[in-house]
Amino acid sequence: MASEPSAGDVIAVEGLTFRYPVGKEDVLAGIDLRVRNGEFLGITGSSGAGKSTLCLCLRGLIPHSLGGQMKGAVTVAGRRTTEVSPAQLGESVGLVFQDPEAQIIGLSVEEDLAFGPENYAWPRDRIRERIREVLAMVRLEGLETRETYSLSGGQKQRVAIAAALMMLPQVLILDEPTSELDPIGKEEVFATIRRLKEERDITIVMVEHAVEQLAQFADRIIVMDKGHIVAEDPPRALFRNVELFHHLDGERVPQVAEVLFALERDGLLQPDQFTPLEDEAVRVLAAGLEGRHGY
Ligand SMILES: Nc1ncnc2c1ncn2[C@@H]1O[C@H](COP(=O)(O)OP(=O)(O)OP(=O)(O)O)[C@@H](O)[C@H]1O
Ligand SMILES: [Mg+2]
Repeated sequence: MASEPSAGDVIAVEGLTFRYPVGKEDVLAGIDLRVRNGEFLGITGSSGAGKSTLCLCLRGLIPHSLGGQMKGAVTVAGRRTTEVSPAQLGESVGLVFQDPEAQIIGLSVEEDLAFGPENYAWPRDRIRERIREVLAMVRLEGLETRETYSLSGGQKQRVAIAAALMMLPQVLILDEPTSELDPIGKEEVFATIRRLKEERDITIVMVEHAVEQLAQFADRIIVMDKGHIVAEDPPRALFRNVELFHHLDGERVPQVAEVLFALERDGLLQPDQFTPLEDEAVRVLAAGLEGRHGY
């Protein structure tokens, strides 16, 4: 199912299997995956499918920090993850987890953001300049001296994204970055991700259950189930596969995709009118209703 290898790939995963130290079975069971430089890859799938485990592999925390049995090869930004330390890989790959509380270390925003570059002995001026840049990227300009405990969940998660961006990584991995936020925090973080996608030449891998957002952002989406990739397509093609999603625990296609697919099946829409995007779907439905005037 993996796409053809090419020189523009920033991530190459070949025959990856992984079993946790205490585990009895492989939680990744033969993953092949390539991601192009600048691509936005979405990952979705049932709980326990192995999505977070795959993120840990891409960031090199597996096998270095978590042990376990890993087979196959993971190459990110030209480096085999088994051959460099997670600290070294951190220059090329940033990872943001679900829980905003768990990843903020500094008492102030600037202390938190300086943490990575200080380990690499960046000069103070360069760190200060980069902090200004990343805070602008996540729309938290001027918050350098704010105490991190006083930030909202959405602001904390944007600080975590800013921290992941400090080292100018080629790849940013977001593992359900909004799942623990309130609706306002979710919207803030999705707006940040939208801007990063539009403005930055960065490869983004985002694990997400919110399929409406995935459909909007992703160039391609992979669906995982029980350690396997069971589907891989651009959103427009993937979310036509309503059947596949009915067989996955807790997963669904965007609601508009379900409606349009049903109308198409009943001969009320042409296949090329199908879209998983809400705003496009509203236009298609509005045009369809207008066409019915006068009947
Ligand atoms: N540290 C660990 N030790 C042992 N087993 C683990 C560990 N972390 C996860 N697992 C198991 O590995 C499997 C895959 O977990 P993982 O967290 O990667 O799934 P996921 O797709 O991210 O799920 P979710 O949607 O709930 O976040 C699950 O069966 C889980 O119980
Ligand atoms: Mg997970």
